[in-house]
Amino acid sequence: MNQLNNPTAQAVDNVLIYIFGFSLILLLGITVVTVYFVVKYRRSKYPEPTSQVHGSWLLETIWTVLPILIVLTMFWYGWTNYVGLREIPEGALEVKATARMWSWQFEYPDGRKESKLYVPVNQPIKVLLFSTDVLHSFFVPAFRIKRDTVPGMESYVWFQAPEPGSYDIFCAEYCGVGHADMTTSVEVLSEADYAQWLQPLEPSATPRGLVVLDEQGCLSCHSLDGTDGIGPSLFEMAGQPRQVTINRESKELIIDEEYLKLAIRDPEAEMVDGYNPMMPPYDEATINNEDLQAVVNYLMGKAEAAKTPSAGAQLMDENGCLGCHSTDGSDGIAPSFKGIGQREVTIERDGKEITVKIDVEYLRRALLKPNADLVKGYSPIMPSADYLSPEEIDAMIQHLLQQ
Ligand code: CUA
Repeated sequence: MNQLNNPTAQAVDNVLIYIFGFSLILLLGITVVTVYFVVKYRRSKYPEPTSQVHGSWLLETIWTVLPILIVLTMFWYGWTNYVGLREIPEGALEVKATARMWSWQFEYPDGRKESKLYVPVNQPIKVLLFSTDVLHSFFVPAFRIKRDTVPGMESYVWFQAPEPGSYDIFCAEYCGVGHADMTTSVEVLSEADYAQWLQPLEPSATPRGLVVLDEQGCLSCHSLDGTDGIGPSLFEMAGQPRQVTINRESKELIIDEEYLKLAIRDPEAEMVDGYNPMMPPYDEATINNEDLQAVVNYLMGKAEAAKTPSAGAQLMDENGCLGCHSTDGSDGIAPSFKGIGQREVTIERDGKEITVKIDVEYLRRALLKPNADLVKGYSPIMPSADYLSPEEIDAMIQHLLQQ
C-alpha cells in the first residue's frame, strides 16, 4: 500500500519508527559499552581501581541534557502527528458507526444502512463512533486507527484509503462472549464503483426480511445454516417446538409469528433454554412494524419470491458451480440442478437415511454446509459458499428453485 496516501497510517508509523529507532540505538550503544568495560576492566587483569576520578561537570551535563532533548523531540513528534489524527481534513465523508453486541452498523447521510463500511478511494472519511450497549473499540489496522466506542458518548476517527480493497475491522475492547466475532470490513471502492454503489438500489431479489436481519447485525449471533452460535440458529425453525423459559418456568412451545415478534421486541420474555439473556430488545425506533413483519415472514419461510434471479445465475457461473453440477439433468460429480426445486432427495443425517423435499432451507444449508446433509451416493467434496453474502446466497437459491 502506498503509505504516502494513507495519512493516518503514515502518521503512526513515523512516530513508531522514530521512537523505536532511538530506543534501539540507545539499547545497542549502552549494551556494547557495558560489555566492553566489563571485559576490559575485569578483576583478573586489574585487581585494583585504575582511576580515582570523582566526577565531571561536562560529562554529567551532556548525559542529562541530551536525553532530555531526545525525549522532548519524541513528545513533539508524537504530539504533532497525534493532532493530525484528530483534525479532519475538509471535504470528509461522514459515516455513523454504531457498535452493539456483537456487530457493527454503518449509516450514511442518506439514511442507508450497511453492515460493511463502503467508502470511496482517496477521500477522507470521518467515522462517528457510537455504542448502544457496552464499551467496544473500532480498530482498522490497515489505517492504524483505533478508538473506543462508549455508550452515551460520541467520538470519531478518520482515514483515507489509497487503494481499493477490503480492509479488516475488529472490535478491540473485550465486550462479551461474541467479542472475537465482532468483525467486518472497510470496502474501499474505486470512484466508478462508488458512484455505482451510490445509485438508489433497484428493487432487489433479496427479501426485505433478510435485508433487515443483515442490516441489524442479527446474523453475527444467529446463523442461517443450523450452526449453533451465541444465539439459536434461525435455520428451519418455523413450526418447531422449543423449550423456553417464561417467568422462570420451562415450557415447550411451537415457534410461530407471535413468538418471533416477542423474541425481537422483548428477547428476555421467553428465552430459549440453554442460551444466555444477552440480546438487546429491538423497539419500534430500531425495527419498525413493517420491517418486523418482513423479518418474521422471512423466518417463517414466507419470503417473497425473487424478482431478478439472473444475479443467481451469474453467481453460479462465477463461482464455478457448473463445473460439477449440470443444468441438463445429466449426472456429474454432483447432482444436476435440473428440476432441483421439485425433487426429493435421500440424505444422511445423524447416521440415519432420511428423505427430504428440496426447498429454500435445504438449499441454503447445502450451500453453506454442503457436507452436513450430503445427498446419498455423492462424495463430500464441495467447499462451503460461506464467503458469499446472505444476499448472494439467496439469489442463488432463488435461481436454483426456478431450474
Ligand atoms: Cu465489541 Cu469487543
